[in-house]
Amino acid sequence: MSESHRIYLDNAATSWPKPPEVYAAVDHYQRQLGAPAGRSSYSEAAETERGVGAARLAIARLLGVEEPQRIVFTLNGTDSLNQAIHGILRGGDHVVTSVIEHNSVLRPLKKLEDAGTIKVTRVDCDDCGRIDPDDVQRAITDRTRLVVLAHASNVTGAVTPIEKIAPVVKQRGALLLVDAAQSAGHLPIDVRNLGADLLAAPGHKGLLGPLGTGILYISPRADQLLQSVRQGGTGTNSEDDRQPETLPEKFESGSLNVPGILGLGAAAAYLRGRGIKAIGTHLHQLVALLTDGLGSIPGVKLHGPSAGDSQAGILSITLEGYDPHEVATVLDVAHRIQVRSGIHCAPLMHRRLGTLDHGGTIRLSPGPFTTVAEIEATVAAITELATTSASA
Ligand code: ALA
Repeated sequence: MSESHRIYLDNAATSWPKPPEVYAAVDHYQRQLGAPAGRSSYSEAAETERGVGAARLAIARLLGVEEPQRIVFTLNGTDSLNQAIHGILRGGDHVVTSVIEHNSVLRPLKKLEDAGTIKVTRVDCDDCGRIDPDDVQRAITDRTRLVVLAHASNVTGAVTPIEKIAPVVKQRGALLLVDAAQSAGHLPIDVRNLGADLLAAPGHKGLLGPLGTGILYISPRADQLLQSVRQGGTGTNSEDDRQPETLPEKFESGSLNVPGILGLGAAAAYLRGRGIKAIGTHLHQLVALLTDGLGSIPGVKLHGPSAGDSQAGILSITLEGYDPHEVATVLDVAHRIQVRSGIHCAPLMHRRLGTLDHGGTIRLSPGPFTTVAEIEATVAAITELATTSASA
């Protein structure tokens, strides 16, 4: 591997590289189409509109959603989660969430809690970030309107058993919002089996689309209760100054990020062709190689599920004697190995892991195009660093 070869292991933040079809779709839009979606009728505008419809259908098919209009395009995972949380919750509601959540869930909930609007229970996890469905069940009360859970931890990759939790949430009359930021595109998802009432995901991580894209799935059970948090032009019912109630335009005000959405549609087609199960197996193998290679190095601590457990393609480590940011800098400068260090916007998870006051962790997140050779080079680089640290 040449010195300048970039080993990108930050796919949990945003995926790179994208499939070539994604670049081609964005380029085609930017150079050839350059028209709004759902606003005009000349040929480029009509092609643009068809492309957005095809992208919606492709994402719907990927997630087992029967009615494509139940997929709403957003700006990113955070935007989807804010729409879901602020659009569902009312004064006096109780929410159940967990300590593994990202700030995109923790912060909207904290804002409402601080304002006295809602009460929140945060269930604990085990040492790897796994949530026990019984803990969620015990936390639900008669006032619980919403249960918000990450499908996978963005720090350890541990997978939450959503299928086991969903029936209990439904039985208690609450709604289940799943944050699929680290699972969409990495684990096969069928919303019918998962039991999610709302599912939020960025388009630019495992779904392999461009930055600036996200989706929110809205089930029939949720759509009457969900209010739009943003209103504006939709290109439909323009004679009415009230926001339309029909999907998807109820939640899609203003001009859409069409180049991003067309790229996302191309990515969804790629994912269907390659198969999410196959990608998940590839990532699982790469994380197992990292776990095996790094687990035996003195001074390296692994923060993730054991080999063989369900995993979303993420591993966190700490290296004794090193600040995580220092490790990330050395890996990049000396080896062009690119990882994320720090708290990863998941403060409660780090408090649980005991890493909050120590600079967090070093997170390694391979992607569908990461090779075994790149993982071996990473293990060798971290081994060298750990050995240097031990002999210093
Ligand atoms: N939420 C992204 C991450 O976990 C940015 O890195």
